[in-house]
Amino acid sequence: MRHLLTPQDFTTEELNTLFDLADDIGKHPDTYSHAMEGKKLATLFYEPSTRTRLSIETAMLNLGGRTMGFADAQSSSAAKGETVADTIRVISCFADIAAIRHPKEGAAMVAARYSSIPVINAGDGGHQHPTQTLTDMLTIRSLKGRLDNYVIGLCGDLKFGRTVHSLISAMSRYENIRFVFISPPELRVPDYVTDALNDLGIPYEEVTRLEDALDRLDFLYMTRVQKERFFNEEDYVRLKDYYILDRNKLSLAKSDMYILHPLPRVNEIAPEVDDDPRAAYFRQVKYGVYVRMALILTLMDPASLNA
Ligand code: NCD
Repeated sequence: MRHLLTPQDFTTEELNTLFDLADDIGKHPDTYSHAMEGKKLATLFYEPSTRTRLSIETAMLNLGGRTMGFADAQSSSAAKGETVADTIRVISCFADIAAIRHPKEGAAMVAARYSSIPVINAGDGGHQHPTQTLTDMLTIRSLKGRLDNYVIGLCGDLKFGRTVHSLISAMSRYENIRFVFISPPELRVPDYVTDALNDLGIPYEEVTRLEDALDRLDFLYMTRVQKERFFNEEDYVRLKDYYILDRNKLSLAKSDMYILHPLPRVNEIAPEVDDDPRAAYFRQVKYGVYVRMALILTLMDPASLNA
């Protein structure tokens, strides 16, 4: 049985197979519309989400399967004190596959250990968000036709942003990738992330001003300041509008740079940027459904990876 806890759970070859499947799903969605008939997906969401949960549910519905679950820990037995380990043992008797989002780092890993059905990590605290990363990678591959040879800028809350941590580790496996980290000093990327890059010999720079990075980026990954992970309101208020990408700043970027964002956007991209052909964040949402469809099919039939 296979799970998706981090993007590293798949080799780069397996990821290619998954992305090829996602491409085919995007081109011929009807071919797949009965593939999960009679199967059930459980979504166990202990933390707020709209897009990730609805995207995973849409993926299952598009495949002809059904969905169930909870979107709020307060309405589940977690409110009675049930552990994740027990919850997943119970859910394993109801559903064929489960997606879990939890505020604690490592929660999905615990769930996978006790589960008898495939588990998808839909975000564990500030740690990882692998289905978003698969979305980001499919978007990059679809826009440019490859996953290597890029300068990737990541901007905003690099400390708490799990999409950032997931994407850096996933892209580190491809040839000639360089990173530019753009954050206020308080929201720098964690040491464990830069330590891993140092060990792998992957070049990166850290800057505080977006203007100092824009001219050399192939992709700019914007993120929101993660309000819910701050310990005090004051720090959040001070840092929340640190970066605002507007038309003026965008004039410093290459004409073929693409802007990605996992969404939700708060203030970090001015709405006037949405009409720029380089703004790819709403296209990204569509790729997210294709890649999650491909992921469900693959986890339900892991042998297809070697076919
Ligand atoms: C991200 C998340 O939940 O980490 N959102 C998402 O899944 N699309 C990013 C965020 O919340 O800022």
